[in-house]
Amino acid sequence: MGLHLAYEFTAKRWWRKFKRYLGWRLRNPFAPYEDYYVYSVMRKIRQGDGHPAIGSASRPVRAQSELLDFLQKYGLQPNDTAVDYGCGSLRLGSAVIDFLEPGKFWGVDITDEFYKLGLEALDPAWLRQKAPKLGVINPETLAKVRADKPRLIGSWHVCSKVPEARLDSYIGSIVSLMSPGSIALVHFPETAERRQLSGLAWASPRSLLETVARRHAPNATISFDPLTATEIDGIRQTLLVIRT
Ligand SMILES: C[S@@+](CC[C@H](N)C(=O)[O-])C[C@H]1O[C@@H](n2cnc3c(N)ncnc32)[C@H](O)[C@@H]1O
Repeated sequence: MGLHLAYEFTAKRWWRKFKRYLGWRLRNPFAPYEDYYVYSVMRKIRQGDGHPAIGSASRPVRAQSELLDFLQKYGLQPNDTAVDYGCGSLRLGSAVIDFLEPGKFWGVDITDEFYKLGLEALDPAWLRQKAPKLGVINPETLAKVRADKPRLIGSWHVCSKVPEARLDSYIGSIVSLMSPGSIALVHFPETAERRQLSGLAWASPRSLLETVARRHAPNATISFDPLTATEIDGIRQTLLVIRT
């Protein structure tokens, strides 16, 4: 494709997406941005296009055990409570459910539609035995999760879906689940400057996430850990690690 054609193609796609967002915003003037994310993903799934992270067509970007592997690296034991924050369709969470003792897994998300799609694909007998706890993120659910004193909280492929104006709410909510001795691992695509990757995804500099995390957890230890060794097009896969 020539440079001019490629530019025209990108501009047309951007305009189509912008028009879709504008139409949704006019129909939903007071809805939080998160509802737009759910609308866009469900629209794709209902059209039969499938989605790489949600529903029956979802596949892990790397290993299905990636979330579990990192939670274990940071000390997760079978009798701990762990949270998959922004669990989607449990694409990575199901390995964590399997590792933990019954009733020790919490999966939370901005909608129940995504984890209901995930549950449909899982063995009902195994689900009854493992009894994972699931809930939509709201003050009542967060209070229940907090009461179970999670030792590890993981949030994978979620931070990238949060616009800058909503980062305080996202990180603040994760920090609100922590108690002394707990650890939160927040996966994010890292770039030198905040960069839009697609209509619904952004990469962030670590300084931005550190500033937000410090605002909500001023006494926590905050560090960064590489998720993968590779850097592609100036983007690294990184973990923000918050320890209280
Ligand atoms: C790409 S999916 C990843 C799902 C799951 N973590 C995984 O890796 O399979 C992004 C998920 O983030 C959730 N999400 C988006 N914005 C969020 C927010 N502000 N707080 C919590 N979850 C959010 C979406 O609903 C969706 O389930």
